[in-house]
Formats: sequence, C-alpha cells, structure tokens
Amino acid sequence: MLPRIQQLFLLLLGVSGAICLENGLARTPPMGWMSWERFRCNTDCMAYPDECISDKLFREIADAMSSDGYADVGYEYLIIDDCWLAHNRDANGKLQPDASRFPNGMLDLSDYIHSKGLKFGLYEDYGNFTCAGYPGIIGHMEDDANTFASWGVDYVKLDGCYAHLHDMDIGYPAFGDYLNRTGRPMVYSCSWPVYQEFNGIKPDYEAIIKTCNLWRNYGDIQDSWNDVLSIIDYYASKQDEIIPHAGPGHWNDPDMLIIGNYGLSKDQSKAQMALWSVMASPLIMSNDLRSIGAEFKAILQNKKVIAVNQDPLGMQGRRVYQSDSVEVWTRPITPVQDGQYSYAVVVLNRRTDGTPYRFSQSLQKLGLTNPAGYAFEELFDGVTHGELLPSDNLDVRVNPSGVKMFRAEVKVKAEDNSLRPHITRVGF
Ligand code: GLA
Repeated sequence: MLPRIQQLFLLLLGVSGAICLENGLARTPPMGWMSWERFRCNTDCMAYPDECISDKLFREIADAMSSDGYADVGYEYLIIDDCWLAHNRDANGKLQPDASRFPNGMLDLSDYIHSKGLKFGLYEDYGNFTCAGYPGIIGHMEDDANTFASWGVDYVKLDGCYAHLHDMDIGYPAFGDYLNRTGRPMVYSCSWPVYQEFNGIKPDYEAIIKTCNLWRNYGDIQDSWNDVLSIIDYYASKQDEIIPHAGPGHWNDPDMLIIGNYGLSKDQSKAQMALWSVMASPLIMSNDLRSIGAEFKAILQNKKVIAVNQDPLGMQGRRVYQSDSVEVWTRPITPVQDGQYSYAVVVLNRRTDGTPYRFSQSLQKLGLTNPAGYAFEELFDGVTHGELLPSDNLDVRVNPSGVKMFRAEVKVKAEDNSLRPHITRVGF
C-alpha cells in the first residue's frame, strides 16, 4: 500500500488537464427527495419495517412521488442517503448494499425508480468511512464511479466524514472527473466546503463551482423552526460571499426541506418553502410522502413558488431588510424588461407575539426601483395586490413565524415602443 501522499499524487496524474465538471446538469436547482433527515440510519427492519433504510422504503417513496403529483411539479431525484451499504466491500473490492435490506441489489431498485419516471441518487463519502461508519470511497474512486454508473445512478451525494480536510481540494475534483469519465451524466453534490469552513479552512469556491453541481455550506438541518432560522441566518450573514457562486449548473445547498414532519407548523412550512425558493436552493424533501398531510403537500407542490425556485436566471436572493424581527428577502427573476428585473419578495415575520404583524415599507427601500413599477401577486393565497410604484408601500399582514411571498413582475412604461416585438420582413 502506497503512503497517502503518493496515492494522491498518482491520482492527480491520472486526472487529465483541467479538472472541470461542466456536465451540463442542474441548470436549475435540483428537486427531489432524500432519506436522511426523516429516516436517518434506521436499519432495524424487524422492529420498524416501514421506516428502515431498505428497498421497500425507496420503492414506496418512488410510488408516492410518481402517483401523488410530486414528479409532475418537478421533484425528480430519489436519493438514498447513508446506511444503504454493507459493512464490507465484496471479495473483488466492489461496493455492495446491505443484503438483507436490499435483497434485489441496487440495479433492480434503480430500474424500479427509473420505471416511475424518476432519477436515482446515492450517497457515499470521500473519506475512509461514511458518517455512519460504512465503507468510504478513498482508494476505490475509479471503481466506485464505475459501479455507480453500472447501477444507473443519476446523482451522487459525496459526504466528507473521516477524510483529511486539505485532501478534499484534490479528492473531490478527482472523483468528479471519474464520474465524468464513466460517460453517464450524474449530478455531483459535494460536502467539501462545509467541512472546511467549520474547521477554519477557507473554501476555494472558484474550484468548487467548477467541480460540483451543488454543495453544502452549513450544518445538517434538524426537525425544528429554530434550525430553519439558524440556516437562513447563516446564509444571510455570509450572503456577499456565498451568493456570487450560485448559478445554472452550480448551487449553494442549505440542506433538505423538512415540510410535513414533526417540527414545522403550516406557516413555518410556507416560510421554509418560500425562503429556499428565494435562495435558489435545491428543493430536496425529506419526509414521509406516504402519510404527509394535505396542507403540507399543497405547500410542497405550489407551482408558483416552485417557478420562483426554478427561475432560469438562476440568481440567488438575499436578505435586504431587517427590523423588529421582520425581514424581507428578494430575488431577481424573469421577466427582465428594459434592464429591469422582476423580483420574488418574501416578507418573513419572526415575531411570536400571537397576531399577524402589519408590515409597511416602500418598494424603494426594498431595492425595487423600476420607475414603471411592478404587478404584485401573493403566491400562497393567489391574491393580486395590484400595481405598485417604487414610492408605494408594500403593506401586508404576516402571521407569526410565517411569510407572505410575492412575485413582483416588472412593468414597462406605456409610451416605451422600443420593447414592442420587432417584425422582420422575410423573403424579398
Ligand atoms: C452527514 C451529512 C448528512 C447525512 C449524514 C449521514 O451528517 O451532512 O446530510 O448525509 O452525514 O450519515
């Protein structure tokens, strides 16, 4: 066995020219479902047959995604997180799933997921072990990339437990390159920056955006409103640093949607959906789609909110106003007219004083300055708020720990003819 430094050197030699992902995937933030937040590392199928990490769970979730409307609104990737592996590789060093929980093997499950019109995602770890202690990919990168391709994997989440933090700058791009070389398009989700950031190393985002389609910046989401708030506070406090890296093909990932679980009320669920959409975040649910309440399903399937998340400009939004525990977040979106963006606008009420809070501020103050104004529509209740000029106030009442979310569509000055469609003479 070569010393680690030599292994890394050889690995670098094997990686040709410029290491650059550009796999053409994730032009808008990926949408899907992932097991970790809701089902964790439950491997006890005797005691918990409906909840353990198993072939059965993923087939049932695939059924729900395809038959209950989730796939129709864009949720596409079904991603198996940690604890799917056997504790040892097979006799040839190949990764293998736990035989009792995945008796049909991964290709069979992958075929089932694909037969439902969905895509198949799988978790692994760059280090010696996954975070839950199963075999990691170090020393097996090329083989493991090929194994994933042979199983029809469409999305890889590569975690960073049990790894040397400085090695990640070499290892994550190397594995991305091996994925590319398989010839199978696979979205590449990295945990590279979060491990570095939280251990005092400044992540090299220029390199990360060339390698990964999405990456975790912050800790794991837990099932609580406080956790949602701590995540958005992190993204707001770092927004000048983080936002420029987001765009088609490469996204910041504040972790899963926890809507429909134990921790969030209906208003808080709308708030997570709205804020994740304004932050151009991947919309990866982790919940039990077999038993989710209708009101949470409606929030997750709100097409107007999803359209903001999936806006083709791919610009990540930011916090633009904060006072009295009320915040406003905005995101530039299409249509763009005469150099002026439309905006998604989220008014978030973090107050807990038991009654809807009246918020009233001029658009100008929120950074919406198009002289001809904007047409405002609230996206959860569908109420049109008419046309507002920059000097007009957005005047709304927002429930405690809730949001109002607007699409503010840019207006064009009536007398401006330059924006009329050009008519081109064809033929003679
Ligand atoms: C880490 C990741 C989580 C999840 C677990 C699995 O904590 O950040 O998203 O994948 O590992 O062990």
